[in-house]
Amino acid sequence: MSAVPAGKLPLPELAAMKERGDKIVMVTAYDAPGARFAEDAGIDIILVGDTAAMVVLGYEGTTVPVTVDEMLFLTRTVARHSHRPIVVGDMPFGSYQVSDEDAVRNAIRFVKEAGADVVKLEGAGPMVSRVRSIVEAGIPVMAHVGLTPQSATMLGGFKTQGKTAEGARKLVADAKELEAAGAMSLVLEAIPAPVAARITSELRIPTIGIGAGPDCDGQVLVYHDLLGLTEGHLPRFVKRYANLSREIRDALEAYAAEVRSGAFPGQEHTYAMSEEDLDAFSAGLDQAVRPG
Ligand code: KIV
Repeated sequence: MSAVPAGKLPLPELAAMKERGDKIVMVTAYDAPGARFAEDAGIDIILVGDTAAMVVLGYEGTTVPVTVDEMLFLTRTVARHSHRPIVVGDMPFGSYQVSDEDAVRNAIRFVKEAGADVVKLEGAGPMVSRVRSIVEAGIPVMAHVGLTPQSATMLGGFKTQGKTAEGARKLVADAKELEAAGAMSLVLEAIPAPVAARITSELRIPTIGIGAGPDCDGQVLVYHDLLGLTEGHLPRFVKRYANLSREIRDALEAYAAEVRSGAFPGQEHTYAMSEEDLDAFSAGLDQAVRPG
């Protein structure tokens, strides 16, 4: 096995990986343990996704409420613990839609205050000029088309996109515009595999798929989904590699039962003191209670 070079994965390496046909691995993370696990697993890109709204902050079925300050807090935590992987800070709803200036101002906060290497934003159309402005300010941008959860209401829900010939052609056009605006990579979410394959072959920048089939240049999954921490309905595109919610529930139930039964803490979790010190301690206290 060849040794992993030290230091941050250089951004141009992602394009080189596309050229070589080496798959890019991206996962979301939101805290220090997640960042450490991802780094140790050799993940290439950590996305501090605005899915934090749902999987960390507990909002039901929407990413919209998470704020810039909340995303900065999470991104800073992840960046502090990510040495090799590229850290992408996800710009939340409202942080880039108003104007190019606003978008640049907020993108700068992600880099300067939170240590992000790259920022991500959703959509095309008016968002193309946001991408261009942020890139012109010297900040790399990952774009995101297909199912864009921040505009799920406009899209009629969390639905597959680009299923008609017209919709698919529009996705290809959007992808090319985002590349021309300077995006360094593109997330393709919930689109038919042949459409993702076509976009991937038309672009020089790497595509990262989630529910977009096997022909993207890389794949991303949400940490809580792939580890089985998310409970309830999961999108078709999620593959679970563990069932941690079961393990956590079992562990917490065992802990509660042992505290209640007195089985925990055991001798091995308890600090002792010498007989001599214990006698002196007790005698001193007894004297204090019954002076003279
Ligand atoms: O916020 C997020 O986690 C994302 C991924 C699903 C791509 O945007």
